[in-house]
Amino acid sequence: MSPFRVTRTLPEDATDAALRADVLTGLTATPKTLPPKWFYDARGSELFEQITELPEYYPTRAEREILRARSGEIAAASGARTLVELGSGSSEKTRLLIDALTALEVYVPVDVSESALTQAGQALIAERPGLSVHALIADFTGRLELPGTPGPRLLAFLGGTIGNLLPAERAAFLASVRGLLTPGDALLLGTDLVKDEGVLVRAYDDAAGVTAEFNKNVLAVVDRELGADFDPGAFDHVALWDAENEWIEMRLRSRVAQTVKVPALDLAVDFAVGEELRTEVSAKFRRDGVTAELAAARLELTNWWTDSQGRFALSLSVAR
Ligand code: SAH
Ligand code: TRP
Repeated sequence: MSPFRVTRTLPEDATDAALRADVLTGLTATPKTLPPKWFYDARGSELFEQITELPEYYPTRAEREILRARSGEIAAASGARTLVELGSGSSEKTRLLIDALTALEVYVPVDVSESALTQAGQALIAERPGLSVHALIADFTGRLELPGTPGPRLLAFLGGTIGNLLPAERAAFLASVRGLLTPGDALLLGTDLVKDEGVLVRAYDDAAGVTAEFNKNVLAVVDRELGADFDPGAFDHVALWDAENEWIEMRLRSRVAQTVKVPALDLAVDFAVGEELRTEVSAKFRRDGVTAELAAARLELTNWWTDSQGRFALSLSVAR
């Protein structure tokens, strides 16, 4: 058997149907929204990798610092033979964990981005002989079915991606994650922390404009997949801090009054000048909140580590 397998849990036409449903619901809602998972076509995944290297985007470096320092402890606590990673992207930081997990047999990266999974998986099997990689093209907000791999399992969800879910979605997500685990299995969760507003806003509105391009890429996806005529140049990227909800909100603001056609949905959408489309939230966390949200899903927090500047946290929790 090949050490690298890719399984698509949804047929291509289901993805298409899901995109149509999301775009129809989002563009006819007030205010207008689009869900973030549609950012990540091949171009979107590539732009995200560029974001991780920007001077303003500290989360990747902060999380890598924690993983460098703590992978040994994480490995000793979990003893995992299977590592499952949700929203794995390039799996770049994950290599630190893989190297530390001495009992590891199987790595299961899960992502909606087929291009990211294929690139990361092929590189990993070349670099780590003996490791089986079973990639899953799947939506982690849906019902996940994992391959039957040996326990104990460690499930990693890095990058602060949990912050891209709204609070109710987060609760449902954590409950479904708990359902994938057997008592004794563990969850390794990366959460970006509440901090100075200026630092946060700059991380989502960089000087080079890469994040703006990433945000507008969702319009290019809708154009390509649904034949829409969004002009990305007719929208401005907006990132703002919502102090009440403690999240960064990403929006696209219409520069002009315009009507956008979406032929595949037989839809025409009017934008007033200055009207905003919400594309993503990125919630920021505090230790007490994370502990409580995990406990509500029957996950007991056992370790909490931050980087040396206290910007980002990794927590380990166990299924009881
Ligand atoms: N874990 C990596 C990548 C984070 S970016 C890191 O820390 O750098 C978020 C990743 O989650 C992307 O690779 C994106 O394709 C994936 N993703 C976003 N929404 C998803 C969903 N609903 N289901 C599965 N993957 C998703
Ligand atoms: N999970 C990342 C985060 O919230 C995703 C992300 C980073 C992102 N920069 C972005 C999403 C800009 C949309 C726009 O930090």
